[in-house]
Amino acid sequence: MKIINILATILVLSGLTASSAMANVDDDIRARTAPVAEVCVDGQDCGDITTAAAPKAASSAPRSGDEVYGSVCKACHGSGVAGAPVFGNKDEWAPRIKKGIDTLVGHALNGYNAMPAKGGCSSCPDEEIKNAVKYMVSEVQ
Ligand code: HEC
Repeated sequence: MKIINILATILVLSGLTASSAMANVDDDIRARTAPVAEVCVDGQDCGDITTAAAPKAASSAPRSGDEVYGSVCKACHGSGVAGAPVFGNKDEWAPRIKKGIDTLVGHALNGYNAMPAKGGCSSCPDEEIKNAVKYMVSEVQ
C-alpha cells in the first residue's frame, strides 16, 4: 500500500510540475504570438476606438450598380448566357424595359426563369441588386 501511495504522490507531483512547466511555455507562446491588432466587435467595450467605426461604415455601404454588375451579373449578361439579355444590347433590353423597372428589379431579386435570384449572390443586399438593374437599364436607354 505504502509503495502505491508513494508512487501516486510522485505521479501527482510530477504531473503538477509538468503542467506548471507547460503553463510557462503557454505564456511564452501566447506572448510571442500575440495578435498585431484585435478586432473589436460592435457592442463590445473595446476601449478608445474612435477610428474603428470608419471601415465598418465603408463596408456596409451598398456597392454601385457598376461594381455589382461587374462582379455578379456580367458572368451571364456580358455574353448572353442561357438567353440573358446582353449588356448594352438595346434590342434585347427594349421589351424587358417595357415591363417597368419595378418588375425588372423584382425579377432580379426573386429570380425569373433561368435568371437566378439575385444573380446567385444571395448575400448581396437588395439595394445592390437594384443598383445593378438600374445600371444595366441605363446603359440601353
Ligand atoms: C446565371 C446567369 C445569370 C446571372 C449571374 C444574372 N442573370 Fe439576369 N438573367 C439571366 C437570364 C438567363 C435572363 C433571362 C430570363 C428570361 O427572360 O427567361 C436574365 C434576365 C434578367 C433581367 C430581365 C428580367 C425580365 O423580367 O425580363 C434582369 C433585370 C436581370 N436579369 C438582372 C440581373 C442582375 C441585376 C444580375 C446581377 C446581380 C443578374 N441578372 C445576373 C441570367 C443571369
